Amino acid sequence: TSSTSSTSGDRDIVSKLESSGKTAVIFYGSQTGTAEDYAHRLSKEATARFGIKTMVADIEDYDLENLDTLGSDKVAAFVMSTYGEGEPTDNAASFYDFITSDSAVFSEGGDADSSPLSDLKYVIFGLGNNTYEHYNAIGRNLEKALQKMGAQRVGPYGEGDDGDGTTEEDFLAWKEEMFSDWKEKFDLKEREALYEASVALIEDSALSTESVGVYLGEPNKGHLTGNASPPYNGTNPYVCEITSTRELFKSDSRNCIHIEFNLGTSGIKYTTGDHIAVHPQNANEEVDLFLDILGLKEKRNTVFSLKSLDPTSKVPFPSPTTYDTIVRYRLEINGGAVSRQFISSVAQFAPNPESRKEALRLGGDKNAFANEITVKGLNIARALNLISNGEKWTEIPFTFVIETVQPLQPRYYSISSSSLVDKKTVSVTAVVESEKALGGDHYLKGVTTNLFLDIKYAQEGAKNTASHALSYDLNGPRGKFESRKLPIHIRHSNFKLPSNPSKPIILLGPGTGIAPFRGFVAEKAAQAKNGKPVGKTLLFFGSRNRTEDFLYEDEWNQHAETLGENFELVTAFSREESRKVYVQHRLYEKAAEINQLLRDGASFYVCGDASRMARDVQNTLVKIISEQRGIDITKAEAVVQNMKIQNNYQEDVW
Ligand code: FAD
Ligand code: 2AM
Repeated sequence: TSSTSSTSGDRDIVSKLESSGKTAVIFYGSQTGTAEDYAHRLSKEATARFGIKTMVADIEDYDLENLDTLGSDKVAAFVMSTYGEGEPTDNAASFYDFITSDSAVFSEGGDADSSPLSDLKYVIFGLGNNTYEHYNAIGRNLEKALQKMGAQRVGPYGEGDDGDGTTEEDFLAWKEEMFSDWKEKFDLKEREALYEASVALIEDSALSTESVGVYLGEPNKGHLTGNASPPYNGTNPYVCEITSTRELFKSDSRNCIHIEFNLGTSGIKYTTGDHIAVHPQNANEEVDLFLDILGLKEKRNTVFSLKSLDPTSKVPFPSPTTYDTIVRYRLEINGGAVSRQFISSVAQFAPNPESRKEALRLGGDKNAFANEITVKGLNIARALNLISNGEKWTEIPFTFVIETVQPLQPRYYSISSSSLVDKKTVSVTAVVESEKALGGDHYLKGVTTNLFLDIKYAQEGAKNTASHALSYDLNGPRGKFESRKLPIHIRHSNFKLPSNPSKPIILLGPGTGIAPFRGFVAEKAAQAKNGKPVGKTLLFFGSRNRTEDFLYEDEWNQHAETLGENFELVTAFSREESRKVYVQHRLYEKAAEINQLLRDGASFYVCGDASRMARDVQNTLVKIISEQRGIDITKAEAVVQNMKIQNNYQEDVW
């Protein structure tokens, strides 16, 4: 869709840059916050090192038909994620449609074929994952579109690859090259990168955590003032009741939690195959470590307000609030290893010259950083501790922390219930992330899944005795979560059963990849009970062994009674024999039947691990089709490709 409507008011980026005296804008297209984080980091670094006045913009907030009038004295940077099957992120969808449309028309009347953007200076960094077919499609197509319209790239075109886990280093390498191009092209003087706050923090001793209106971690301001109301979404989650939790594994060391949410009177709707996003909080142990290394433990409950010092940037969190609140509810303090850039930029606040030197050494040396920090799985607090030998980093302004540490992100789960069976109950099947760090004594523990585990114990009225468990403030802000509520929202997906229930389906879901298929099969059983003609369901499940992690075994038995010969479960237990048996091996054993089902119009579904499993399964299906139909691999690949286009091959992988 193209548009010629003129941009105006708050949605006009050109006048926003003019009025705020900025010369560069960094747009982001972000789904889970990574691209947004990079946009902010780029902006801060451009200001700190070169004095470039920059602003960061959610690309959804502007009408970009006037990109042609941005002017050659300005630069637009695009940090753009590719999502799912080569799609733009939700916030970039309309810009992407516009800019890649052959009929895009700009404010001065130029169209996509004329070179309307010949004045535009730009750079692009795309974020993608090479295990997906349309690797970095959004960055690449944006690059093509801008080139075609005559825009001038000022720096290399950059890409980050999450599939190889190198996004961070890809980004660092790209931005160094880009800044050195800028230095030359724009004759910039580099200075020592010093932090300039764009937010002010003012402590207020007249307020306490008992005071009305102090933000203590409610999902947003509406919740704080008691005005939370629908529609519920990512910025306005619903504080949802958890009606039941149970352990699905029979194991001393591994946990998998089944958790049920009740949508109650929220008005939230979901359909089988959708995703639920859970908005977590950080664990007590990690909040303590973090506050402690900053020397803020004693004043964790001191109340402060935040004020923006820059008209183009919003204060990221409601205030007045407390240090504990922000660290517990709003910052990603334990979502992974600390970034090299964080360590470089925090060096200026080191508690002594040796620590500063050490931070600069690690920040400046990719290999040393990988070996001494990343491999050991050190998060921010643990890395700071190591670098300073335990000395507190009291010079780090908390505004630096707020502006530099990524905001805590919601985690997505494939809903494992069926909306046809019960439209109010949403269940999640989550394996608890906990593994010993290589070269360290601590455990790497997932924020959200350990929260589920702690809630499970609380609901049983039992002490959390899981090995290496984390503990949480389950009562939540002002006690409102009562150990049985969490903020959630629903994200609709395209991962759907065929509309005609008599069509056969083939499902492959090893591990927690079984989640949506629990919903699918329950739905099939309900349809059969309602007298609908139901086609064959062939379900492949894989896990380590039958006794420990065979998920929902009883339920499959029940559904088999209802569905009779129209349901078949095929299992692949990988650690029962010396040879690894995976779902794709079982698939191959049934090659002739699979080929026949596909000929009968079956739809094929894959859910679970994106890094290897999904690709291995697809290759196996290509092989089956090639052998069964006597066609070469390229032709068989085209058959699978065509299935994808027709929605007969669907993936829900992460
Ligand atoms: P996080 O805190 O996000 O940590 C992620 C990983 O990093 C963990 O393995 C953790 O151990 C490790 N880690 C922590 N600290 C460090 C460190 N310092 N260094 C290195 N590593 C570290 N999951 C399911 O179980 N079931 C599902 O049905 C499901 N469906 C999904 C559907 C979609 C569309 C997507 C995108 C994901 C889905 N996931 C599902 C994955 C889920 O969203 C979470 O990623 C997963 O549960 C881990 O979340 P967490 O908060 O517990 O871990
Ligand atoms: P493994 O851990 O014994 O190697 C759920 O995690 C199941 O998926 C486990 O049985 C696991 O086996 C298996 N699995 C691991 N890699 C896989 C792959 N590439 N394809 C399919 N299944 C895989």
